[in-house]
Amino acid sequence: KREAGKIEVAEPRNKLPRPAPSLPIDPALYSGPFPFYRRPSELGCFSLDAQRQYHGDARALRYYSPPPTNGQSPNFDLRDGYPDRYQPRDEEVQERLDHLLRWLLEHRGQLEGESLSYPILWRMTWRGHLTKLLTTPYERQEGWQLAASRFRGTLYLSEVETPAARVQRLTRPPLLRELMYMGYKFEQYMCADKPGVSPDPSGEVNTNVAFCSVLRSRLGNHPLLFSGEVDCTDPQAPSTQPPTCYVELKTSKEMHSPGQWKSFYRHKLLKWWAQSFLPGVPNVVAGFRNPEGFVCSLKTFPTMEMFEYVRNDRDGWNPSVCMNFCAAFLSFAQNTVVQDDPRLVYLFSWEPGGPVTVSEHRDAPHAFLPPWYVEAVTQ
Ligand code: A3P
Ligand code: MG
Ligand code: MG
Repeated sequence: KREAGKIEVAEPRNKLPRPAPSLPIDPALYSGPFPFYRRPSELGCFSLDAQRQYHGDARALRYYSPPPTNGQSPNFDLRDGYPDRYQPRDEEVQERLDHLLRWLLEHRGQLEGESLSYPILWRMTWRGHLTKLLTTPYERQEGWQLAASRFRGTLYLSEVETPAARVQRLTRPPLLRELMYMGYKFEQYMCADKPGVSPDPSGEVNTNVAFCSVLRSRLGNHPLLFSGEVDCTDPQAPSTQPPTCYVELKTSKEMHSPGQWKSFYRHKLLKWWAQSFLPGVPNVVAGFRNPEGFVCSLKTFPTMEMFEYVRNDRDGWNPSVCMNFCAAFLSFAQNTVVQDDPRLVYLFSWEPGGPVTVSEHRDAPHAFLPPWYVEAVTQ
């Protein structure tokens, strides 16, 4: 019998090759009680500017500024400015963990100050990578690959674009490109550069710009340090303390039938929940767009209430399954990546329908801890 989170170790039988360790993903294996998850706290932040340059401050943070609630519904044209006022980020550039590593180097003292005698052995990564882990037990379309290295006790996890994802990106149909733009355009209608002022949707949409929060948490016995992009902060939020003042913005197709809502709760809400639950972002504000690309209604979904929409749905998702699977994956990775060597990479691969498998690599192209980081930490 296979047990979640345990590596299969071969009995030393008659010269049988040791089966490669793998991790099953069946939801039924992970349906136990909700695991411990420390309330996420913000350790710091950084910004990326219009040229994708790093700044160790909150200059790219925007302020939530919804339209006045005077009985009128919004009328945001999400296609306005496409493609002439659109500066998309160059997706060929693989940034891996680089921005987060730069933040870490610049705040090393702060982290070591936590406890010198018992240093915390972090699992470090992007929030988006953890989101993919959370939704894996329910994912039926897109696989993933995560590269992992251990260096000075810390486990680093960095996503690798799968060949299939690369093909999809390079052959992305024009309508899908425009849909991507529309998600960012919605942010421009809902956010201002300063608190208390109205949004200005006349400018360019530049997706190089990002504000990233760096957070710490713990899942079971796994101390987590991760960074995630944050859409905006609400100056009117009951608590001004990050991450509880942050707001996640989303767009979705307008729905007309109960069947459409049900499918939205089963699929989209799972992704929204996973993305915002991890960093402790309390609210997701959705803009529903009509077929012409106009947002005519808004709805706030409190992250902690999302599960209620599928609690009684046999084909719904379960937060415990998501979190237990993530914890099991982290244990699996923790037990696999034993050697402390920044040039050694374990590539965890998953395709829908199968288990998570592992392969071992050295140096290029998979090694992802840059020399400037390794050298600075080694000194
Ligand atoms: P929506 O959120 O309205 O889908 P995020 O919501 O995570 O802040 O991302 C902002 C926008 O980036 C998204 O808007 C979407 O347009 C685009 N985007 C993010 N992740 C994407 C993905 N995996 N594929 C396509 N577009 C994506
Ligand atoms: Mg965002
Ligand atoms: Mg968003």
